[in-house]
Amino acid sequence: MKYLPLLPLAARGSFAALLLLGAFAGCGGEGEGPPAPVPPAPATWDFGLPAGYPKPKVPADNPMSVDKVELGRRLFYDKRLSGNETQSCASCHDQKLAFTDGRAGGLGSTGEVHPRSSMSIVNVGYLSTLTWANPLITELEEQALLPLFGETPVELGLAGKEDVLLERLRKEPVYEALFPKAFPDEADPVRLENVVRAIGAFERSVISYQSAWDRYNYGGDSKALSEAQKRGKDLFFSEKLECFHCHGGFNFSDSVVHDGSTFTETMFHNTGLYNLGGTGAYPEGNRGVYEVTSVTTDMGRFRAPTLRNITLTAPYMHDGSIATLSEVLDHYAAGGRTIADGPYAGVGSTNPYKSELINGFVLTEDEKADVLAFLAALTDDALLTDPRFADPWKQDSAGGMP
Ligand code: HEC
Ligand code: HEC
Repeated sequence: MKYLPLLPLAARGSFAALLLLGAFAGCGGEGEGPPAPVPPAPATWDFGLPAGYPKPKVPADNPMSVDKVELGRRLFYDKRLSGNETQSCASCHDQKLAFTDGRAGGLGSTGEVHPRSSMSIVNVGYLSTLTWANPLITELEEQALLPLFGETPVELGLAGKEDVLLERLRKEPVYEALFPKAFPDEADPVRLENVVRAIGAFERSVISYQSAWDRYNYGGDSKALSEAQKRGKDLFFSEKLECFHCHGGFNFSDSVVHDGSTFTETMFHNTGLYNLGGTGAYPEGNRGVYEVTSVTTDMGRFRAPTLRNITLTAPYMHDGSIATLSEVLDHYAAGGRTIADGPYAGVGSTNPYKSELINGFVLTEDEKADVLAFLAALTDDALLTDPRFADPWKQDSAGGMP
């Protein structure tokens, strides 16, 4: 089976094609005739972020609202969103693992294994491109179609079952009330466009801002970091380690966009993880941006993921091929990974497409421990049990939040 990371939207049926053609933006229920008046601004949404922490950029055609976020959360946790009703988005994006799944490759509803590791949905509202290595996917609403309808691999397995899904949703009393509240201007709001809009709004609400690092950096609490963490921070932000060049800024990634962005950064890098037979190649099906563009220099180029909550999201890298953060540091210290034998044998440090920022460095054991301590300061424990992001269906049965 060949996995194509390029969004195969055209193969995804007419709805997806519709989205691509831009019909998405205009489907607010308006008819023909003069341009519809701009709808009144919905009740303002409060991201509740500390001062200085940027807000996500919200698409003009999908404003945030309390009801829409709540609907999106319901959908995110709803197994009716898979063909065989065994999985929801949360099956691979588990809150207690910072919305990842602990696996090297995501396991789909029909048993197919994804070639890449599931990614956190924390702070995805800030990403300029989505998924590990696809410059073409830039909106959450569009990305959600991939797990829902994708067939390479099958994740939620709803290809050809759009009507089945909508029928299921219409039968649920919670949705009967929530869809009209979330999309008040529409006569028949239970539509696929609105399903992905609501999910996108929920995802934009999932923001991590309560780590020790945030208390130190935004909260002015100089004691929030231990001495070891402060030493690790200085190493992380040093020209010796170079981490911050690709994992810098408030989101610890260089592919970010936010409400105050004046330009959009989209960056992809080859970190020398593979060098099959000395050719520079990465394993077939996981060759990074090259899979999308077929441009040789895009070989092995991936997006630098956020390092927020990184202690919780093992195994690491796009294919989960590094088990621990200590080994990730070894990979960078060596200026690329060497695989001695087997089908993936090769010396990553001599990969011709490797980023010039990956040059290797020497760390003492103490320094390494300091960097690891700093990375642990990026973990936001409050997020892992925050009721705003938790499974609402379970909260119903536990008599919890509305
Ligand atoms: C079978 C497991 C699985 C399911 C189910 C799943 N995902 Fe994912 N998710 C993944 C994997 C694997 C990736 C990385 C995909 C890639 O790089 O091609 C990912 C990536 C993402 C990303 C990109 C994050 C980033 O940092 O760029 C978002 C957003 C996302 N998923 C949202 C969702 C939503 C919404 C749903 C439900 C509609 C969902 N996922 C269902 C496994 C899953
Ligand atoms: C040239 C840009 C670049 C530099 C410099 C860099 N990284 Fe990365 N980092 C990336 C990319 C790209 C990936 C994903 C690579 C892949 O999966 O093939 C990544 C992946 C990671 C991951 C795994 C993330 C996950 O979700 O699986 C960790 C942890 C990490 N880097 C930490 C560091 C640290 C610590 C440093 C400094 C020693 C560093 N990085 C330097 C670009 C960079």
